Amino acid sequence: MASTSGASLSIQDVLESKRDGQPLSPAQLRWLVEGVAAGTVTRPQAAAFLAFVYLRGMTDDETVALTLAMRDSGQVLSWQVDGLVVDKHSTGGVGDKVSLVLAPLWAELGAYVPMISGRGLGHTGGTLDKLESIPGFRTDLSVDRLRSALSDVGCFMNGQTAQLAPADRVLYALRNETSTVPSVPLITASILSKKLAEGLDELSLDVKWGSGAFMKTLPDAQRLADSLVRVGNGAGVRTRARLTDMNVPLGRAIGNALEVQEAVACLRGQGPEDLAALTCQLIGRDAAEVARARALLDSGAAFERWCRMVRAHGGDPDATLLGGGCAERVLLATKAGRVTRCDAYDLGRAAFVLGAGRRSAGQAIHPGVGLVLHVKPGDAVQAGQPLVTLWHVQTGLDRALELIQHGLQVG
Ligand code: URA
Repeated sequence: MASTSGASLSIQDVLESKRDGQPLSPAQLRWLVEGVAAGTVTRPQAAAFLAFVYLRGMTDDETVALTLAMRDSGQVLSWQVDGLVVDKHSTGGVGDKVSLVLAPLWAELGAYVPMISGRGLGHTGGTLDKLESIPGFRTDLSVDRLRSALSDVGCFMNGQTAQLAPADRVLYALRNETSTVPSVPLITASILSKKLAEGLDELSLDVKWGSGAFMKTLPDAQRLADSLVRVGNGAGVRTRARLTDMNVPLGRAIGNALEVQEAVACLRGQGPEDLAALTCQLIGRDAAEVARARALLDSGAAFERWCRMVRAHGGDPDATLLGGGCAERVLLATKAGRVTRCDAYDLGRAAFVLGAGRRSAGQAIHPGVGLVLHVKPGDAVQAGQPLVTLWHVQTGLDRALELIQHGLQVG
């Protein structure tokens, strides 16, 4: 389609304004996003818009308007509950199973957590893939069932429905095709439009930086965090962010069922320190709230809430996790020393090549494969001591061993 015109808007005017570095009005952005969702703005026109935003940037007011328009391109959920509606979003990392612990813990603290999550892509894991290693667990509940889960249990963890922020799906796919993914305003609007469609009062963001993160450097992560916080608040949701280091995997387990096991241990008060600490820091607005969350986590009380949430999704919290039957292999230290390198990217790639992750959307994964680290940076090790245990099938074992050798070093 050569031209798309509303009452007084034309795609040429909108594109030329952005091309020439002039800010777009909320009305222009809403009209453009509606056209993207409806298909009346063509793919080349939408691609040009993305490229101009990538090159020219956006003001915060524009990014707020883009976010709200993308949120409103689909269903915006609302809840009749008597309490704060909250959620967390992480920009993704290796061994990041915080969501699994955080949702039931925050619900146990009295909040309502309507968590919409995604699948893993590349070396970073996805919450839905982890949950689906629980027999029977459905991540595609209807909105009516989500409503019941939220009021009865206080939390749910579901996949994105086709009705939620559909404009983001179109724009995200185009960004991939046009190399315009790494644009702070486009990332901000993409993340927040989906989270804001959950009908939240408050949003806590975990913006990761480092080898295993989407943002490799601290300044880039800081820029994204600042933008997310300004735009989230500008769009009417109380938003805060933490910057966290993703040069080293979080916790010790990497791989879907293995991460569920570690999250369950954490919910029983027996999780690794870094996972427990980060989960509570993301929940608490101040030191007192963090300490309260930590005391509850350490008590194991949130485990029962987890079991109720799993049942609300059709899962069996007592069942053996899927993906059994993997072969086990323990790698031992060949010399004494200290762990000098435990690289999130290499170790995430190792789990990925074993089959824990997917190269492209829709590809099958293996729930049981992955690795568990027995050491973390700075730990003293003796020759012959176990460094890491791998759970594997035939796929990718040699490459995984190479990646672990590079990623985990004793010096
Ligand atoms: N996650 C999203 O949902 N969107 C982005 O643009 C980047 C990460």
